[in-house]
Amino acid sequence: MFPDVRLRRLRKGKIRNLVCETTLSVNDLVQPIFVDEAIKSPVEISSMPGIYKFPLSEVAKEAKEISELGIPAVLLFGVPVFKDEYGCSSFGETDVVQEAIRRIKAELEDKLLVITDVCMCEYTSHGHCGIIDLETKDLMNDQTLEILKKIAVSHARAGADIVAPSGMIDGMVGAIRGALDLNGFNNVPIMSYAAKYCSSFYGPFRDAAQSCCSFGDRSTNQMDPANSNEAIREVALDVAEGADIIIVKPALTYLDIVYRVKTEFGIPTAAYNVSGEYSMLKAAAANGWLDEKKAIYEFLISIKRAGADVIITYFAKDAACILK
Ligand code: PBG
Repeated sequence: MFPDVRLRRLRKGKIRNLVCETTLSVNDLVQPIFVDEAIKSPVEISSMPGIYKFPLSEVAKEAKEISELGIPAVLLFGVPVFKDEYGCSSFGETDVVQEAIRRIKAELEDKLLVITDVCMCEYTSHGHCGIIDLETKDLMNDQTLEILKKIAVSHARAGADIVAPSGMIDGMVGAIRGALDLNGFNNVPIMSYAAKYCSSFYGPFRDAAQSCCSFGDRSTNQMDPANSNEAIREVALDVAEGADIIIVKPALTYLDIVYRVKTEFGIPTAAYNVSGEYSMLKAAAANGWLDEKKAIYEFLISIKRAGADVIITYFAKDAACILK
């Protein structure tokens, strides 16, 4: 009890560092990259200042820059020229992500992990994460699995190190695991977006990926922000189906979920610090309302403190410089 106990004694200078409980390392970070088939030079995403879409011709150069900062991994998103009802340009051998993987691997080999987003929403004309029954407007779960299998196998074949299915389609992890194994990719891990919420914080991403839904929304596949036990059920299913790493998304408004997943399952856990989280900090900093560097550190350390092993974040490059 006070006055014998004084917690302020440990808060000064080097002592403060000595008793620090959580550390942030560049090794924890994953930088997302958008690759756009339609552009010739990098284009800044207007709602995400400092984040660019890259043409195929420059993706390897960007990946090299990321790798040289010490960041171990990138997460690739493709923006295709051609979209249709079935997302057919998502699984071809020479489609945008498959090409990007090849170019990055040709340049960097094992120096950088290439993780790929496996979902249909960037490739469908209606923007949904699967095949839609055009009469009922329902997402056809099981038919969608067939496309997801093709996407995942095509990414692995192009050289992806990890595939990350993000559509919250029931059975997606099991289906993809089976397809990868059948094609000889039993060593390619699955990083599953197991607890992905139906969030307003994906807005800037959808501008970037041109993946807004032309009707309806993603509430039949993405989770209700009010639910926590449901996230645990989702994670349990994905683990049973063979997921190697679990993603909770978004990160900051769902730190309780990150904590529960890490403590209840004890498996490698990633948190996705999404586009809207990035943009709101950037906007406040641009107005001089926040100290940008300190706020970035505080965002990321809070995600680590909650239990994340991996942080997927648009701040990865900034953070790598701050940590240096
Ligand atoms: C695709 C996907 C989305 C994000 C990652 N993968 C968008 C969505 O569900 O609309 C969002 C990432 C972000 O906001 O940074 N299914």
